[in-house]
Amino acid sequence: RAPWRGIITEYTDRLPITAGMTPVTLQEGGTPLVPAPVLSARTGCDVYLKVEGLNPTGSFKDRGMTTAITVAAAQGAQAVICASTGNTSASAAAYAARAGLTCAVLVPKGKIAIGKLAQALVHGAKLLQVDGSFDDCLELARKLSVDYPVALVNSVNPDRIQGQKTAAFEIVDALGDAPDIHCLPVGNAGNITAYWMGYQEYFGLGLATRKPRMFGFQASGAAPIVDRAPVAHPQTIATAIRIGNPASWTLAEQARDESGGLIDKVTDREILAAYRTIARDEAVFGELGSSASVAGLLAAAADGRIPAGSRVVCTITGNGLKDPDWALSGAPAPTTVPVDAESAAAALGLA
Ligand code: F0G
Repeated sequence: RAPWRGIITEYTDRLPITAGMTPVTLQEGGTPLVPAPVLSARTGCDVYLKVEGLNPTGSFKDRGMTTAITVAAAQGAQAVICASTGNTSASAAAYAARAGLTCAVLVPKGKIAIGKLAQALVHGAKLLQVDGSFDDCLELARKLSVDYPVALVNSVNPDRIQGQKTAAFEIVDALGDAPDIHCLPVGNAGNITAYWMGYQEYFGLGLATRKPRMFGFQASGAAPIVDRAPVAHPQTIATAIRIGNPASWTLAEQARDESGGLIDKVTDREILAAYRTIARDEAVFGELGSSASVAGLLAAAADGRIPAGSRVVCTITGNGLKDPDWALSGAPAPTTVPVDAESAAAALGLA
């Protein structure tokens, strides 16, 4: 069996990458679609987790970054820029390094996970902490990309969405058809847009007999789409989706409405509970923001919005290792023992 070669090579015919372009790839995509037996039992559904934290930089952003950076490099860009709650900056930094481009990133000061900050820095990005929100950072990045020779690689760049749609292809390829429902966290709303594009495309090609209902979930303190108004000061412990004015707002509503889906909000408490459930019961370590998909599934199943027996895919968008503080919080501090089997056995409750 041929090894996975990255989404550009695997799905060339479906991406805006032409023969003259050299793919900038870290062999992203090809991520596991893991059955979730405990969540299935709890919801009465057939639940799968699309584990996007296993991409090269630990999030789904790599799918869009391989395409965006490939196109930017082919067009002669010397530098790229993005605003980020962390994962986009980690991914942009890595793919820019791979392409030999300069990478500039703007992040909201004090509001991104330490692992993501480390990733951007270790890959050599020029990182600015902005005294403002993600939305402020995006506005700045857009301005700079207009006024200076630097290509914008946020998901407002259509090449990003094109790359990210391949996750939907992989799910249909793995299941043999589209699921009934697809649950996603929603932040800047690029990913729900991308998945819907991918599912529609496969349906149009006759590679799927149906399209899923798209279920998007925002954090309740950062839920502009649900509350129908931009949020000036979004608040949530799920920093990845702490966004008050999503760039792909209208496209997310289209995905919701065309698919017969919904966009709802989940509380930080529900997000944290889902985070722990995913790790404890399904042995998948996702990051906090990722868990909004499962938090939403549990809430929707509990109040009867998901028909029993539905086949449901939840995307776990990023890797829990990026933000270990949340794993440690609420966990008991480890006991220290001497180099002694009896003490170890006693401490472990084996004796
Ligand atoms: N989950 C994670 C882990 C994310 O990092 C993001 C977005 C989302 C979900 C939401 O996806 O924005 O397409 O609706 N992170 C962006 C970033 C904003 O800068 O890394 P979305």
